[in-house]
Amino acid sequence: MLETVAAVPGMVGATINHLTALRRMRDDDGWIRTLMEEAENERMHLMTFVQIAQPNLFERLVIIGVQWIFYVGFFLLYLASSRTAHRVVGYFEEEAVISYTLYLKEIDEGRSPNVEAPAIARHYWKMADNATLRDVVLVVRADEAHHRDVNHGFANTLAGLPVDTAAQAPYPPHAHDIRMGG
Ligand SMILES: [Fe+2]
Ligand SMILES: [Fe+2]
Repeated sequence: MLETVAAVPGMVGATINHLTALRRMRDDDGWIRTLMEEAENERMHLMTFVQIAQPNLFERLVIIGVQWIFYVGFFLLYLASSRTAHRVVGYFEEEAVISYTLYLKEIDEGRSPNVEAPAIARHYWKMADNATLRDVVLVVRADEAHHRDVNHGFANTLAGLPVDTAAQAPYPPHAHDIRMGG
């Protein structure tokens, strides 16, 4: 369910940076594309995990309500302070890394079955045919870690602080090291 809101900030940030670039007639330094890729990547997390567990009607209603509140709220926050908005996302992404680490533990301890990786995930992350849910969680966690670094980097840039440019490098989601099953 959290993945339904995770894909919002990237698109909001991309939209606002796009409009700013148009108004000020200036370059975006690649931020728009990076943020759009983040939004797409988060949407793929959702498309993947909805194959593992479908939300019930109540959860779907909550998702609709939360989307309204979160989209508008995040939009206003980004307008007020893009630096704060990116910093907040950086912390959210760190929480996501921790959640997926706990999920890995659940799988390893047999509390969650290590089912076959959904076809959509194998295709998107170019995984082996015998890839499992555990492999998917590993690549998704790496995505979240990347979003964390990018967003903290953007917040640092906006604050005039030093930025680790290596962590900001454009990131094809398919370029993961972890591709093998087992
Ligand atoms: Fe995600
Ligand atoms: Fe995320």
